[in-house]
Amino acid sequence: MRITISDIKEMKANGAKIPMITAYDYTSARIVDEIGLPIILVGDSLGQVVLGYDSTIPVTVEDMVHHIKAVVRGTQKAHIVGDMPFMSYQTNSYDALRNAGRLLQEAGAQSVKLEGGVTMAPTVQRLVSRGIPVMGHIGLTPQSVNQLGGYKVQGKTVKAAVRLMEDARALEDAGAFAVVLECVPEDLSALITEKLSIPTIGIGAGPNCDGQVQVFHDMLGILSDFKPKHTKQYTNLNDIIRGSIQQYAEEVRGIKFPTSEHSYRLNPEILSELSQQVT
Ligand code: KIV
Repeated sequence: MRITISDIKEMKANGAKIPMITAYDYTSARIVDEIGLPIILVGDSLGQVVLGYDSTIPVTVEDMVHHIKAVVRGTQKAHIVGDMPFMSYQTNSYDALRNAGRLLQEAGAQSVKLEGGVTMAPTVQRLVSRGIPVMGHIGLTPQSVNQLGGYKVQGKTVKAAVRLMEDARALEDAGAFAVVLECVPEDLSALITEKLSIPTIGIGAGPNCDGQVQVFHDMLGILSDFKPKHTKQYTNLNDIIRGSIQQYAEEVRGIKFPTSEHSYRLNPEILSELSQQVT
């Protein structure tokens, strides 16, 4: 049985911090699931870290379905949240329902995440009332990067902070089971976390959120040229991968790989018979 939204809400009630991470494929999801993280987000950040776009805007519902399916195949226990890509829910609540439905029915996610607060609350309510659990996402909402004028910390003035609090409350009232706070000053996210009964999951929102989310590729140092302030690089896989591939190429060129350890041999009798037949 997978982790449910009730389990996730209970974690807040019990004061248990919630570690969440993104994954986009079978292999990484399997590792995360085996370690026992309760939530995996198949984020539309896959647009940048997997597909090579410079934002999340080009990501499609088809892309999300493809990657969520792989993550679902690699996991047994984790709750899989599928991100709703740009323009799959902002147009109208019918589109939102159809596309969210695809992420659950076709791809196998257990819930969806969408960006926006007060303005998206009616959509959240519609999805929830049709049986689709929703995780909200406020603060820095990357799908609105062109409107926000860049990837900036949000809620820095009293007016902006009050608006974020209203966004968080609107999502809770609409029935969201959790809300991501991205790039929000830690004092403000502490306040939002205290006022909400549903869990807050922070990224660049300080230690007081109920949970944290990190992008798989960022925290493992897979891409060397992207290190946002809110990411802790737990290792530098870029160096490890480069070193290993360089060594492999050198060994192939120097005829040091493969050795007999990595090769298959014919039975000596078959070899001898073969030598007589092949002249
Ligand atoms: O797409 C994503 O990875 C996200 C997280 C940064 C929260 O939305």
